Amino acid sequence: MEEFDIVVVGELNVDLILQDLASFPEMGKEKIARGMILTMGSASAILASNLARLGVRVGFAGKLGEDQFAEVVLATLRERGVDTGGIVHDTHSQTGITVALSFPEDYAMVTYMGSMEEYTLEDVPFDYVRRGRHMHLSSYYLQPGLRAGCAELFRRCKEAGLTTSFDPGWDPEEKWDQDIREVLQFVDVLLPNEQEAVHISGRQSTEDALAELGETCEVVVIKLGSRGAVCRVEDKIIRTGTYTVDPVDTTGAGDSFNAGFLFEWLRGSDIEQCLTTGIACGALATTKLGGSTASPTVGELQAFLAEHDQEDILIG
Ligand SMILES: Nc1ncnc2c1ncn2[C@@H]1O[C@H](COP(=O)(O)OP(=O)(O)OP(=O)(O)O)[C@@H](O)[C@H]1O
Ligand SMILES: [Mg+2]
Repeated sequence: MEEFDIVVVGELNVDLILQDLASFPEMGKEKIARGMILTMGSASAILASNLARLGVRVGFAGKLGEDQFAEVVLATLRERGVDTGGIVHDTHSQTGITVALSFPEDYAMVTYMGSMEEYTLEDVPFDYVRRGRHMHLSSYYLQPGLRAGCAELFRRCKEAGLTTSFDPGWDPEEKWDQDIREVLQFVDVLLPNEQEAVHISGRQSTEDALAELGETCEVVVIKLGSRGAVCRVEDKIIRTGTYTVDPVDTTGAGDSFNAGFLFEWLRGSDIEQCLTTGIACGALATTKLGGSTASPTVGELQAFLAEHDQEDILIG
């Protein structure tokens, strides 16, 4: 039996969040922030840690610098039960950081990419990846070094008998390079949001994007924010609603949805259950600040599902 249920390959960084600023920064002046959090960032790390919290055996392959920020990421992943044996350290680059100025209605962010930019296929320890039965990759467009080798990584995984999933994420350059098509042919479960699906497929509507992407990938799930999700498996289309919660912060809702969906998919649950758990984890994620704070254990997930009405969740 494989050692890991899933190996996540992807970007790692830290987030420095400054809160409670009286006003926006100005050149030549100093402002005081009344709140500060230095925490593990990145979509891939949030997914890995949320899966581990659900009891999934998770391995991680990625790249960090050799610095104090790398220690923050490693310590957090380990504390959450993620195996970090596939992470390599680069002496030539620093661990990336996102500095976010958080205001009640909005935020301003600056990112230094560091080792995220330098990560390439050659850095991915394939012997480690194949210790899992499934490989997941997020944030395709945030990993310029890995992009060229991404299709090859997925191809090798399929060849070695692993199943695969892929959340491409947003393209900050908004170029939506069609090289991604090469990757899709080796993807079993594709997990974009609505805008990403439309841009990648080159179609105008979510329905057309779902049909187009479903030609290549066995399972396509398009996340629709507060409207839930829509999924295509073979020729079957399933729509969901959402659980009603009081959203505080939607950061990481997509990654939390992925964690819930993959948790069920990896243990062979039917697609309806995968979607139900995905939208439950997505909804839960919005109830607290940050992408991992509200991430449930199996017990907490069951309690949430028991408390909330299941009717109208699967629209069909
Ligand atoms: N306001 C909300 N209320 C209830 N559920 C929500 C809300 N926002 C998001 N969700 C749930 O979380 C899931 C994922 O959110 P979303 O569609 O925003 O993903 P995303 O755009 O990939 O997010 P991310 O920015 O984290 O990548 C949705 O499919 C939905 O089930
Ligand atoms: Mg997303």
